[in-house]
Amino acid sequence: MNSFLIRVFLFSFYVLEECQGKSHPKPSCGYPPSQWCRTLEIAVECGVQKQCMELLATRPDPSMPPVEVTVYYESLCPGCRSFLTEQLFPTWTMLRDIMRVHLVPYGNTKELPELNSFSCQHGQPECQANIIEACILNVTNHGAFPVIHCMVSSSDVITAAPSCLQLYAPSVEWGTIESCVKGDLGHILMHENGVKTRSLSPAHTHVPWVTFNGVYTDDLEDKAMSTLFNLVCKLYEGIKPPVCTGALKKLNRSFC
Ligand SMILES: *[C@@H]1O[C@H](CO)[C@@H](O)[C@H](O)[C@H]1NC(C)=O
Ligand SMILES: *[C@@H]1O[C@H](CO)[C@@H](O)[C@H](O)[C@H]1NC(C)=O
Repeated sequence: MNSFLIRVFLFSFYVLEECQGKSHPKPSCGYPPSQWCRTLEIAVECGVQKQCMELLATRPDPSMPPVEVTVYYESLCPGCRSFLTEQLFPTWTMLRDIMRVHLVPYGNTKELPELNSFSCQHGQPECQANIIEACILNVTNHGAFPVIHCMVSSSDVITAAPSCLQLYAPSVEWGTIESCVKGDLGHILMHENGVKTRSLSPAHTHVPWVTFNGVYTDDLEDKAMSTLFNLVCKLYEGIKPPVCTGALKKLNRSFC
């Protein structure tokens, strides 16, 4: 073996060691990357304490209120799905420290109290998907957005639900969501979403209908549909994070 090959061999071995080593994410820690810095215990289990501490140190001032983005939508509306997948999710991935996302699946649904049921713009499957999403939001709470993003970016929102839950909220059993969907809780959650949607002022004329810190304007919505990332950076009143300003930040990264 010539010396070049030996070096390549040793280097590959080094890379392999490093990526499985103590200070690097362990492939088998049982949490998706989005959860790694959620608690100290998870960070330790996944071997990323150092990276999480750096991340925390560069977090924006917690006393500044985040930008509250609330999306009133319905689960099978194509415009809603493309807003969630093309604008909201990528923006949230980059700006999650300075924004809060609130999802209200309901949209143009009608409540039929005499039948104890709902009627949806895109038919019964949409009602089903709305309830599944409402239950996921209630049960997984802060972990819901990646699950719902996974669903709305799949070809079949409903059939994708169990595997999306398993991928992005592995600690929640599908059975918990199912019993919410079939039981009173699902119905209560849909009713609550109806109340929230009907109390919008101005009343919504289409979906997705997006409010910022509780306020709707046509101008904000136009910007949200095309350049949400820039809008959230602009609306945030604290010190802008480097992704907003283009400033470079030197961090010790976990390169593999
Ligand atoms: C789930 O919904 C119930 C009923 O509205 C509510 O009391 C509870 O606070 C909700 N949980 C979360 C995490 O939103
Ligand atoms: C990055 O790592 C080097 C060597 O381990 C250390 O000296 C330096 O202080 C670290 N920088 C930051 C920002 O943590």
